[in-house]
Amino acid sequence: MKHFIDIADFSVAELQSMLDLALSLKAEYKNGVIRPLLKDKVLAMVFEKPSLRTRVSFDMAMRTLGGDALYLSPQEVGLGKRESIPDVARVLSGYVQAIMARVFEHEHILELARWSSVPVINGLSDYNHPCQAIADALTIIEEFDDLKGRTVAYIGDGNNVAISLMKIVTKLGGDFRIANPEDYDMPEDAIQQSREFAVETGGSVALFRAPEEAAEAADVLYTDTWISMGQEEEGKKREMIFPPYQINEKLVGMAKSDAIVLHCLPAYRGKEITDEVADGPHSRLFEQAENRMHAQKAILVQLFDKGDDHVE
Ligand code: CP
Ligand code: NVA
Repeated sequence: MKHFIDIADFSVAELQSMLDLALSLKAEYKNGVIRPLLKDKVLAMVFEKPSLRTRVSFDMAMRTLGGDALYLSPQEVGLGKRESIPDVARVLSGYVQAIMARVFEHEHILELARWSSVPVINGLSDYNHPCQAIADALTIIEEFDDLKGRTVAYIGDGNNVAISLMKIVTKLGGDFRIANPEDYDMPEDAIQQSREFAVETGGSVALFRAPEEAAEAADVLYTDTWISMGQEEEGKKREMIFPPYQINEKLVGMAKSDAIVLHCLPAYRGKEITDEVADGPHSRLFEQAENRMHAQKAILVQLFDKGDDHVE
């Protein structure tokens, strides 16, 4: 049985087939074709943190493919608080066909997966956000056909979203750059791992402090909040440090003229991204958000091992 916990756990071929499947399921959906690929499947969605996109896109992915989803709020389950994670994993495995969880500590996802007898999907942890990365890659591929030869510049905090983005960009042969302040680097092991992917695929990883250097002639500019869920206590300090890392029209002007701007959302407008950019011609923020749903469908179908029948 396979879980969906980290982009690194998937081969280039598996990621490509997941993206092909997402593209074909999206095209079918737009043409009004709905197939019950997830009939009789129910997904339990366990949240330790708030969510709009992850919650609704997984729910709609399940429903539109003939399955169903159950939302379990932080107050209801209390992962590791009301009940131990091994017990939650074993109980849910008796009721549902897959578990998606959004957790504070990455270890919670790993522990759920260790004890679950059904697939576990990581809906964001303090370490990574692999479902987001599938939607990000999908959005870039829709725009440019391929990641190979494309430069993706992430500006801001070296956080969970940045880590998964770096992994998928390098797995697919793209050039990943990040500009982040000192003390907000991505973990060294994730950088090293992505450099190894890049050696195999012809991609690269480059680290910068200056946003302008990372943005120079980039195809994609990407940012995320400066204060992730769970970091609220560091909020004041971060708001002092991060303002130079805003994606604004000046920074967009340094990228290629046909560059696109992505943000996983929720966006803190006027902080990491300006209104002018978020609502401007380079923005693909809402296409990217919609793609979360098509990406989740592909993740789910492939996890349930039905993908092969549906990729042309
Ligand atoms: N991008 C993302 O995961 O959004 P939510 O926190 O709303 O799920
Ligand atoms: N880095 C953000 C992503 C939210 C989708 C957080 O962890 O809060």
